[in-house]
Amino acid sequence: MSAYILGIESSCDDTSAAVIADTTILSNVIASQKVHAEYGGVVPELASRAHQQNIIPVVDTALHRAKINKNQISAIGFTNGPGLLGSLLVGSSFAKAMAYSLDVPLIEVNHLQAHVLANFLNKSDDDSAKPHFPFLCLTVSGGHTMLLKVNDYFEMERLGVTIDDAAGEAFDKAAKIMGLPYPGGPVIDRLAAEGDPKRFQFSIAHLPGLDYSFSGLKTSFLYFVRDELKKDPDFIQKNQKDLAASMQYAIIKSLTNKVVQALKQYDCKDLVLAGGVSANKGLRTAMQQIADRYHRNLILPTIDLTTDNAAMIAVCAYFKYLKKDYTTLDVVPYSSC
Ligand code: KG4
Ligand code: ZN
Repeated sequence: MSAYILGIESSCDDTSAAVIADTTILSNVIASQKVHAEYGGVVPELASRAHQQNIIPVVDTALHRAKINKNQISAIGFTNGPGLLGSLLVGSSFAKAMAYSLDVPLIEVNHLQAHVLANFLNKSDDDSAKPHFPFLCLTVSGGHTMLLKVNDYFEMERLGVTIDDAAGEAFDKAAKIMGLPYPGGPVIDRLAAEGDPKRFQFSIAHLPGLDYSFSGLKTSFLYFVRDELKKDPDFIQKNQKDLAASMQYAIIKSLTNKVVQALKQYDCKDLVLAGGVSANKGLRTAMQQIADRYHRNLILPTIDLTTDNAAMIAVCAYFKYLKKDYTTLDVVPYSSC
């Protein structure tokens, strides 16, 4: 008999609930909060208020779409961190109350582990491609950038992390400088597809080891645009696609340089991408080229599973459910790892 896991995600600005049967997605409902767009970034207080408004209808819709009723739920998994504390409190409090009232196990989930384990959900179009341990995983989101050696579901070695901004932040900040809407990553991705990536050069950090840095790149982009605007106030408009493509190229190059370095150091057959930035078309193509060149098997999450969603929380909870790794009502959310 299948285990039905209800997953709840509320770490940032998406309220999401999903139902999975073992590793098959039955529903994955995401309410993205539009309220932040006019501020050019997530406003924590507004995010937690919107989560409060969304959580009941989102969970209700997830159960409805999955065609199960709440008494069939085997366990409830929720994001306990890292994330915005006010946002996490909404999802975690809701999950605790619901698990208590249904008398089912409560399972806390680490958001970053969930991004990685999203690759173990059955894909609707192709059920075959799941990673084999140990694998190398580049996890790139709005809050985090790290290169992991994943030895088992919950044994993830950090080989390298960003020492300042995350890759997603670099995309979002570049977009903001260009006057593009938030979140900037998908917009830059679209514009870059028609631009020249070699037109402008931005500085790529060369840190020792496998760590990342994006703050210098962001500053070099900012100063370059500022200087060009002094000469021509329409510079951004006239060069939007090339600017996007050149910035995207620099971010991808920073990411993939370290992936190649790691591939030479660690004997892993599978190479995996995770997190919101893994939706980026340029990054997906670059990773495929690396996998081909170094004879590795590349596993990409489907686009709907790259950015924050509760199906990834549910699958992480599912693997904990199998080990009976439950949590108690007194567990508290955490903002950073
Ligand atoms: O994983 P995620 O939804 O949230 C965090 O856990 O941070 O990632 C959101 C980040 C944002 O910075 C967004 O701009 C970026 O992922 N993103 C992209 C694309 N889609 C989302 N970045 C580049 N290209 C994309 N297509
Ligand atoms: Zn995320």
